[in-house]
This record gives sequence, structure tokens and C-alpha cells, in this order.
Amino acid sequence: LIEAVGAREILDSRGNPTVEVEVLLDDGTVQRAAVPSGASTGAFEAYELRDGDKKRYGGKGVLKAVGAVIDELGPAIEDVEASEQRIVDDILIETDGTENKSRVGANAILGVSLAVAKAAADSADLPLFRYLGGPNAHVLPIPLFNVINGGSHADNGIDCQEFFLAPIGASSFAEALRWGAETYHVLHSELKAAGYATGLGDEGGFAPDLKSNREGLDFLVKAIEKAGFAVGTDIALGMDVAATEFFADGVYTFEGKPWTAEALTDYYIELADAYPIVTIEDALAEDDWDAWKHLTDKLGSKIQLVGDDLFVTNPTRLADGIKRGVANSLLVKVNQIGTLSETLDAVDLAHRSGYTTMFSHRSGETEDTTIADLVVAVNSGQIKSGAPARSERVAKYNQLLRIEEELGDAAEFIGRAAFPRYQA
Ligand code: PGA
Ligand code: ZN
Repeated sequence: LIEAVGAREILDSRGNPTVEVEVLLDDGTVQRAAVPSGASTGAFEAYELRDGDKKRYGGKGVLKAVGAVIDELGPAIEDVEASEQRIVDDILIETDGTENKSRVGANAILGVSLAVAKAAADSADLPLFRYLGGPNAHVLPIPLFNVINGGSHADNGIDCQEFFLAPIGASSFAEALRWGAETYHVLHSELKAAGYATGLGDEGGFAPDLKSNREGLDFLVKAIEKAGFAVGTDIALGMDVAATEFFADGVYTFEGKPWTAEALTDYYIELADAYPIVTIEDALAEDDWDAWKHLTDKLGSKIQLVGDDLFVTNPTRLADGIKRGVANSLLVKVNQIGTLSETLDAVDLAHRSGYTTMFSHRSGETEDTTIADLVVAVNSGQIKSGAPARSERVAKYNQLLRIEEELGDAAEFIGRAAFPRYQA
């Protein structure tokens, strides 16, 4: 039984406050969870409550959310069985009472939801991935390493927010991690040799002021080759365009020019021909449904088209997208929806509907590694947690190394077959 719930304000990887929650069970188990925070947030995400008191952290304090955990959410779930996750999450949602969790904040709710799951797992003496996924949890994800950062994650001129290395030819997660790290270091040397700055963006990738988005892909190709890997078969490429960020009044402003959705779609088709790209996220804006449909018809049989701002891990928005035949993959961010149960509902719906899933960190992260266990629990097969550098990013990858070791011979790494491009 849940005996007590505590909370505090801690810092995230960008130096902004966030919520940490601690749950105590009556058997003495204590577990904690910390909440991440996005920069390029979707308009339809659950509400992140900030204090707005300009005298503290520039208004970004989370003392109201912390207070809501201590005064309202904790007392509401006291004496409930910690393993009754869906009941706990329902109580949290009802206590808040709003559609988008804006009264007490999704950051307050998520911290409690995740800490309860971790406490229940610990109390059952099971690793979190096993507790949540049961005996069939065994698929280690392909890591999508975001090694060049642009958009709202870096102070450079690149429109595309993320450029991924996808080590799809590796035979295990551990090998994929090594390939990613080796290529990351070669990329560093290549950028430096070309005279570019090698400072890092929010997710640990380099943030050079490249002349074009294609140049980012060219650098990845060069780094993969120089690191001794086969481009496309060992390590493929991916992008998160985060197109909502440069869309306004029906126009995409990309590489300094106005673009229509059709023109941008043709550009993606060209890129997919010219480069071994396996996945493109948020290629179009979060409300541009008809254009998304057109893009999916044109490119969906070849490229994994991931909806992030489009779906915001929301089962209702995802169901709408599935009905319309839009995208073919769901990005999964626990704080976009705010409870573990709703997150798992979205994942279930995606998998039942033939959509792939990719679990994701946020650009503002903490040392919390819950998503590493979640991605294995549901056999998703894909995770993005930034570059293979910076501890808040690497913490998730390191946890996946532990899980792979624990699973031993039962561990499966899907590799290439995860992506439409290689399924033919
Ligand atoms: P965010 O970016 O965490 O800043 O929203 C991540 C993403 O767009 O995938
Ligand atoms: Zn995204």
C-alpha cells in the first residue's frame, strides 16, 4: 500500500527546475522519479505547470506542482495498492479534474505515476521492465543517436532539429552503442577539420552552423565511412525535422525560403533517394493533417514517418491519425500525456494498428532512466535519448546495457527489420 508521497524541486539538464517525486510503501520500499521537460513542445501536450514567479528561476519554478503532489495527489492515493497502476492514474487524473492536466500540472501527475510504478516493481522485487512487461519483455531497442542538433535545441542556423545515427546493422544494443560512440567521435574530428564549431546542443549532439540541412546528412555519411562502417547497412540515418517550429500561416520557412507542404514533401522524397534515411519525425506541422496524409501516401511505404507534436502520445489524437492513414509511427514521451497508463494505452493502440513506436527523452532531461525500462517492457524496439555523450542522455543507454546483460540469451535486437526501408 502507498503510505506517503513526497516531492521536491530539482534541476534538469538545461538548468531549469523540474519535479522529483518520492513514494513510500507500507513495506518500507522507497522509489523516486523525476520529470523531463521539452523545448519544442507540441500545442496539444498535457500542461506543464510553472510558477510564473519572475523572482525565482525566471518564472520557471515548479513549487506549485510540488505543492500539489504533497497536498493533493499524495493524500488522494494513500492506502491504494501500488500495483493498481490504472486505479492510481485514474485517481490522479480525477484529482486534477481538467482535460489537459492543467490544474495541478502534468509534471506533478507524471512524477507520482512513475514513482508509484517504480515502487511497485521494487516491492515485487522485479526490475521495472520485467514488472511492467512480464515474461515476454525481451526486445532491446535500436538507439537513434542525435549527433547534430539544430532547431530550437541549438543556437545555430540549421532548421532541422535532430540528425540521427541509426546503427541498424549491429547485433546487440551494446554493439549499437559502441558503433554510435565511435562514429560520434569521428564526426567531432570531421566537423573540426572543416572549421566548424564543435560545441554541443541540448541533447549532446554537435551544433555547427552548417550551410544547409543536406550538409548535416553529408557529415553523417562521411563520419560513418571514416569510422569504418557501411553507410546504410551498418548505420543508417534519420531526422527529426520538428516542422511545427518553422510553420506559420500555412507556410514553412525552411533554409531561408517559404515552402509549401508539397514542396517540402518532394524535398523529403529526394532526400530519401539520395541518403539511406530510415526514419523522419515531424516532417510536417502538428495540424497539417491533409499534407501529412499526402506525405504518408508518397513516402510511408519506404520511410518510417514518426508523429511527435502530431500525436503528443495522446491515444485520442493517435486514433484520429490512424483513421486518416497519417504517419506510420508514434513517438512516445511520457510527459506529453502525463500518466504511465495513458502512455501504455497509446503504445498498445499504435502496435495494434501496425504503427511502430519510438520511445523518447525530452531536450530537458534528468538522471531518471525510467524510459529505458519502458521501451523494453513493451518490446517497442526503438529509443532516442540523444547523443552517446552527456550523462543525462547516456544514463538511459547505460541502463539498457544493464537490461541487455540481465536478459542474456533472451535479449533480442531487431536491427534493420524494424524499418519499412528494409522490410521489402
Ligand atoms: P523537445 O524535443 O523535448 O524539446 O520537445 C524533442 C523532440 O522534438 O523530439
Ligand atoms: Zn520531435
